[in-house]
Amino acid sequence: MKTFLLELLICPACLPEERPLQAVALDVQKQDIVSGQLVCRACSRSYPIRRGVTFMTAATQSNSLAPSKYETAAVLSSYLWSHYGDLLNDPDASDAYQQWAALLEPKGGLAIDIGAAVGRFSFELGRKSDLVIGVDRSYAFVKAARNLLLTGQTEVELAVEGLLSRKETLTLPHEWPADSIDFIVGDALALPFRQGTFATLASLNLIDKVAKPLKHLTELNRIAHCGEAQLLFSDPFSWSTEVAAEQDWLGGTTEGRHAGRGMDNLKTLLQGHDNHLKPAWRIDRQGQVWWKIRTHCNHFELIRSCYIKADRHPCHWD
Ligand SMILES: C[S@@+](CC[C@H](N)C(=O)[O-])C[C@H]1O[C@@H](n2cnc3c(N)ncnc32)[C@H](O)[C@@H]1O
Repeated sequence: MKTFLLELLICPACLPEERPLQAVALDVQKQDIVSGQLVCRACSRSYPIRRGVTFMTAATQSNSLAPSKYETAAVLSSYLWSHYGDLLNDPDASDAYQQWAALLEPKGGLAIDIGAAVGRFSFELGRKSDLVIGVDRSYAFVKAARNLLLTGQTEVELAVEGLLSRKETLTLPHEWPADSIDFIVGDALALPFRQGTFATLASLNLIDKVAKPLKHLTELNRIAHCGEAQLLFSDPFSWSTEVAAEQDWLGGTTEGRHAGRGMDNLKTLLQGHDNHLKPAWRIDRQGQVWWKIRTHCNHFELIRSCYIKADRHPCHWD
């Protein structure tokens, strides 16, 4: 974990109280904390840092309805291709992350990529913001993203067919920022940051993957600056009872508080109409990006991810 994160992190288990963490037994090597613990004196929880990866999840808050497929080697490889296929010069690669990045303005201050996976969008944000934090619940993804960040390279084992695979070396362009970015293991439903920390926020293809979608939005809203913030939200709205109970979906049902289409409900929520998200966001643009995930050389998932770019200007809390 980069040392710049030390002053930003708070105890996720104590939320909504904002309790600072005390650093214990840190081993710091070149601005990177490779081991140690962050301890909350209020609740006595301890958040370990192991091999540079910081685990900021408060166990009670995380998704509990399904075991995570995101820790498997096959899914890690699929996501490395999805995020960095263009750097492997693959003609089938997607340019989804560049399209999403083009929707955001350069803005000083801190940016967060919630559900960052293996980190491509965090690197894109690094070219627009002063500091970027990618947060994901998957240890395998965060480890891979940090490995890329620290070494600029990684080996990707791409499935070809059946048991056949081929190895490729993925190298990040030298000009991509690295010092101003970091990745931690954390939960989108209990983000370990103070209210109003971030000027730029991204939630890409995440809301249909969390157990409490509305909680994800209220958390995102809590950590956004109350004035001068921008938000990029994108999702295919693939609601599933394997992830969240039907009554918690924000769309895709005929009855209930959030019946109808996810995008319509999301706009209503962001605009503050039912008082969940305050101060209100202004919808700047909306549209869609085709996003691609690779399973093997002849099998891809093509996903229409519907985005909203929203912003907010200086506000009045009431
Ligand atoms: C469909 S992937 C999208 C990843 C990335 N945002 C993108 O668009 O490529 C969903 C990601 O969310 C992460 N995730 C799922 N539940 C989460 C949670 N409660 N908190 C943080 N990350 C979560 C998964 O580990 C996975 O990396």
